[in-house]
Amino acid sequence: MKYLIGIDVGTSSMKTLLINEVGQVIGSATEFYPFETPKPLWSEQDPAHWWKATCVSIKRVLEENNVNAPDVVGLGLTGQMHGLVLLDNDNKVLRPCILWNDQRTGKQCEDITNRVGKAHVLELTGNPVLAGFTAPKIAWVQDNEPEVFAKATKALLPKDYVRFLLSGEFFSDVSDASGTSLLNVGKRDWSSQMLDALGLKRDFLPEVTESTVASTRISAAAAAATGLLEGTPIAAGGGDQAAQAVGSGIVREGIVSATLGTSGVVFAHSDQYRVEPSGKLHAFCHAVPGKWHLMGVMLSAAGSFEWYKNALGAAEAAEAKASGRNVFDLLTEQAAEAPAGSEGLLFLPYLSGERTPHPDPLAKGTFFGMSLRHSKPHITRSVLEGITFGMNDSLQLMRDLGLEINEVRASGGGAKSDFWLQMQADIYQSKVVTTNVTEGAAFGAAVLAGVASGVYSDIDTAAAQIVKNTGETNPGPNEAVYSDYYPEYQALYPALKDRFKSISKVVEKHL
Ligand code: XUL
Repeated sequence: MKYLIGIDVGTSSMKTLLINEVGQVIGSATEFYPFETPKPLWSEQDPAHWWKATCVSIKRVLEENNVNAPDVVGLGLTGQMHGLVLLDNDNKVLRPCILWNDQRTGKQCEDITNRVGKAHVLELTGNPVLAGFTAPKIAWVQDNEPEVFAKATKALLPKDYVRFLLSGEFFSDVSDASGTSLLNVGKRDWSSQMLDALGLKRDFLPEVTESTVASTRISAAAAAATGLLEGTPIAAGGGDQAAQAVGSGIVREGIVSATLGTSGVVFAHSDQYRVEPSGKLHAFCHAVPGKWHLMGVMLSAAGSFEWYKNALGAAEAAEAKASGRNVFDLLTEQAAEAPAGSEGLLFLPYLSGERTPHPDPLAKGTFFGMSLRHSKPHITRSVLEGITFGMNDSLQLMRDLGLEINEVRASGGGAKSDFWLQMQADIYQSKVVTTNVTEGAAFGAAVLAGVASGVYSDIDTAAAQIVKNTGETNPGPNEAVYSDYYPEYQALYPALKDRFKSISKVVEKHL
């Protein structure tokens, strides 16, 4: 039997997964590590944590599952995107990694955008320069820590620093590189215009390849540190979202995933390079060679339901405790007592601002349209409907770009309830399916390693072998009801945008 390893360099932990050649998960190891928020808006991590976790977790999955190193035929890397690791001439880390969720770079985003031109940035990189992305972080170090920048000779993404330690070589892949604002996403290569705008030479960045390329191999030093065999191929791998999509079979046009976690992610494979004209969707290279993906991110998806349970669900929580039932099951059952559309009660789920489709940190959660007829079931139902309308906003933007959506693969909290699955099918106006794959990005990284090492002929074949549908929900009679309510939902944000801004000021004044 041949084995593959996938490593996900996450924000709060590293997950290392061992799978066999038919895609069964044999073992996994999770190593937790901290990240720091030294100042408001800052988010940093010491890359040394990743290396320690890599060595411990690879050894552990091999030992615990009695797998011999020569039977591991490939390793794939994935991880948190957008982070900046700076190395000096001796390949030593110069400062803590600035993470994807760091928001300190507002000024640098503006500066880079002004230098290159808003439309040109969008044309070259597929996206606006966003505060979490890598280029503005490099510019921040240039502006604020010039003595650090003077020593910097290489900028790497988190998983690519782990690759360097495993192999001694510098490589990245196009999907992860897409989140740097330095890649020409259409051409799948570093953009000389963007590099010029930051005064960077091409060799400041690693070589970039497609995700399935066995770009490098385990070095003798890393073999000694991890227990793997020297020479084991390392797949280029992918950013965490693209790798997760590979693992759950979002590798063909028409198949889209809708993940209702705390945040909500809508991810679509795209055969062509498509860019949303105002940059509302992320347009990145996919980990599938020669293909792209579009992505919408909602900041409070199932997180809004969690908030609702905490803020207004005390009675249901007590009932759940007394009966031994799940409080979310009780709340969804309660929601089912109200009619579709909640008799005009609409909920905007912008509890922590929003990213897609309204990149607005000041957007607020809202209940709109309340009347004497509304009771608790209406309110509960409106929360679920508002979250699902919010996810549909991303699907709508994708459809507007000419992407046909044949199947939505639901996962996360929203895939656990038949009621919410039906609501998704009705609002998305699409077949909604659930699948057998519950592992995240590390699984996709292992699949990419399988393609890189020839265990699988290509990603599509691997996905067809591994990912099986476990349930299917089709739109029902409420589809027509929701198609009347959805435009009302969509009209609310533009109507309230200025009020969100002004009330933020009032709140600030009285804090
Ligand atoms: C992708 C994104 C996150 C991070 C951290 O754009 O911001 O998925 O990669 O997981």
